[in-house]
Amino acid sequence: MIVKGATKKILIVTGTRPNFVKVTQFKKVVASFPDLEVEIVHTGQHYDQNMSQVFFEQFGLVPDHFLNIPAGTPVNQIAGIMTGLENLVNQLKPRLLMVVGDVNSTLAGAIVANKTNTPLAHVESGLRSNDRSMPEEINRILTDELTQHFFVTEESGLQNLLSEGKKQEQIHFVGNTMIDTLVAFEHEIAADDILSDLGVSSNDYVLMTIHRPATVDFPEKLKELLGLIEWVLKKQSVVFPIHPRTIQNLRKFGLYDQLVAMPGLHLTDPLGYFSFQKLVADCSLILTDSGGIQEESTFLQKPCLTLRPNTERPVTITIGSNELIADDWSVIPAKIDAILNGQLKKGSVPPLWDGRATQRILEVLEKRI
Ligand code: UD1
Repeated sequence: MIVKGATKKILIVTGTRPNFVKVTQFKKVVASFPDLEVEIVHTGQHYDQNMSQVFFEQFGLVPDHFLNIPAGTPVNQIAGIMTGLENLVNQLKPRLLMVVGDVNSTLAGAIVANKTNTPLAHVESGLRSNDRSMPEEINRILTDELTQHFFVTEESGLQNLLSEGKKQEQIHFVGNTMIDTLVAFEHEIAADDILSDLGVSSNDYVLMTIHRPATVDFPEKLKELLGLIEWVLKKQSVVFPIHPRTIQNLRKFGLYDQLVAMPGLHLTDPLGYFSFQKLVADCSLILTDSGGIQEESTFLQKPCLTLRPNTERPVTITIGSNELIADDWSVIPAKIDAILNGQLKKGSVPPLWDGRATQRILEVLEKRI
């Protein structure tokens, strides 16, 4: 056991489901770094039992600080997080603030670091979709403008940062902390009972997740999506863990009842991490607009069709098993048919996606802060 003396505190800001999944190994791994300590703050951006609490329970993580911001508009959220976090930073005086990913909590954390003169590290830095209509793209660009330690998951991140004028010596290609979590909880995922709970069989269902504003905020797009689900259901059953934003909009546009009535559809609340990853590992195909699921399916080498015109994670296309299909509904059925008939894109695992990214990040920070 390593005895810690005076340590340098790293405060990690998390707020949403995808953030929690990226920080699970920091407290465990930091135990072997005598000069460093890690505390985690949960901003409260995601607050439901099934969007937040279940993740901390499954990962055995206890947030050291909880800001409990009220639900509201993105501006309300960001303002609330900044106020709460500024107080915390003034009180704790961390050596470094670390933000992850591209959500509103990430941007709020980056601004607070800048305004309190606290050095900033960004995990999953440099990703770009080059689509400024995505709220996450703006969060990524602004966060990287304020960052001193850039930790990137793939080659494109490195190149994007260099072309934006960031200094090579501040950029570290370390791999993907989201994959660290998949590797660390491999056994719990394999043992999960979700398939029998839902009554579906391995390789005999399509897994679907949709929540991005570009799709779910428009009634016509949601209607097209329901048509697609109906079509897929003629081939296989569909498991659809539904995001709160998607449900709210289906109700608002009067489409919810139509969805619920579809035979063969397994509509569930957002699922815990182990169940969801078990569904990824055993499905025949994933249809998604998520960022992280493109990476998880690449690591597990499962076919993934991303219902977007672009991706900020191009390695999942160039090396991985992911394919982009924009919302051209005339080509999507043929593509799905081909995959369900066994015409699979061969993918492999990108460099450094090996379960050790957290270790590499802390090795860099041990020397730099
Ligand atoms: C956020 C992230 C997105 C990420 C997604 C994953 C931003 C800009 N977007 O989008 O990058 O992929 O999380 O989930 O930060 N809500 C609940 N319960 C919750 C959380 C949210 O009911 O636990 C409601 C909110 O009140 C809001 C809606 O769901 O009405 C959307 O939540 P919000 O956190 O604003 O953004 P997401 O769409 O989830």
